[in-house]
Amino acid sequence: MMRVGMAADHGGFTLKGQVAELLRGSGYEVVDFGAHELNPEDDYPDFIIPLARAVAAAEVDRGVALCGSGVGASIAANKIPGVRAGLIHEVFSAHQGVEDDDMNVFCLGGRVVGPALAWELIKTFLTAHFSGAPRHQRRLAKVQALENHEVGL
Ligand code: RB5
Repeated sequence: MMRVGMAADHGGFTLKGQVAELLRGSGYEVVDFGAHELNPEDDYPDFIIPLARAVAAAEVDRGVALCGSGVGASIAANKIPGVRAGLIHEVFSAHQGVEDDDMNVFCLGGRVVGPALAWELIKTFLTAHFSGAPRHQRRLAKVQALENHEVGL
């Protein structure tokens, strides 16, 4: 069973609950990194960073990170080494981001898309697989070298 970590601030809180229910109903294990209540004053890094750390540590298989636009979530998640997060609102990138770029955190704006499209996109993300093609591995190795400070910024 795939373990999916989820996190959201107030901008993605309602969508997180809707998607988590659909995921559990489809046989996924959901690990909820909060927010656990709707607080309009909460801050997305407080939830997104623990989720991103869990993905990087392989405590969950993949992550779904939500905020109002998805922008803050993607910025925060990508600060954690080992995370490859994408902000995605259309179906092509939802699978291509995994197939080519081995995306492991899917970011989405709860104020941008409704629950039906969000569910289609997240299902697409979770069922996609990294191709492992040499050219994609080569490109990811260059990103990883930067992350590992093996090359200069
Ligand atoms: C919070 O109001 C909002 O700024 C946040 O959810 C997110 O959209 C940031 O990128």
